[in-house]
Amino acid sequence: MILRIAVGVTARRFNVVFVTIASIPYIYNELLLEQISIVKKFGPKLKFEHLSEMKVLDSVILESLRLNVSSTMFPRYTKSEYISSSGTCIPKDVYVGINVLTHNRNPKIFGKNASFFDHKRFLKDNCSFGDVSTKNLNWGVGPRMCLAKDYAVAICKMLFAILIRNYKFSTMTKPIDINAPFPRNLKTRSPLVYFTPHPPNTFPSS
Ligand code: HEM
Repeated sequence: MILRIAVGVTARRFNVVFVTIASIPYIYNELLLEQISIVKKFGPKLKFEHLSEMKVLDSVILESLRLNVSSTMFPRYTKSEYISSSGTCIPKDVYVGINVLTHNRNPKIFGKNASFFDHKRFLKDNCSFGDVSTKNLNWGVGPRMCLAKDYAVAICKMLFAILIRNYKFSTMTKPIDINAPFPRNLKTRSPLVYFTPHPPNTFPSS
């Protein structure tokens, strides 16, 4: 039962990753190439130890979730007044939160192209999906952050690796233009994603 809920929670959060991979065809090709090279190196059986080799998959998940976040506020209730070093006062007994939507498109944190899809930014920074940092708020921050982070990273990467090795992802909607700011409404647009089987670990013929 717990496993079913866990898979459900994870799958819902990852809707945007499926849509992103299906809507940017060259991303799918990069991901498949990575899987093919891992199969060449370690054989076709997928093991937990291989997950850390999937750096491109990591970066694509991070970039998709950055641009269409799954948790938007992380609300907290203050039990005492807090005065920051700059003199800003947060009173007692109020809710505060981080605007993750704005944070994740902040050029001071993600550079000039913060509103554009560029998964390589995470490869350059050596930032991975399981890290908790200013660049990765997917797991929350502080003592109430996700308890199942490492487990969720593992099942998620396992799921994507199996699907990428065996199916081509596509949608009927227009491909996402990576030279324009990334759409903010991927969740509500929610196009159907089609999975077409192809022989394991080979490039689909079309
Ligand atoms: C990829 C999937 C997941 C993501 C992105 C995610 C993200 C998060 C985030 C952001 C929080 C903190 C919310 C906050 O700070 O207010 C959280 C809390 C939590 N998550 Fe996850 N989660 C995922 C999967 C899971 C799974 C599969 C489980 C259970 C098996 C789980 C169990 C929990 C629990 C128990 C908390 C509450 C921790 C606490 O309040 O001390 N999460 N998660």
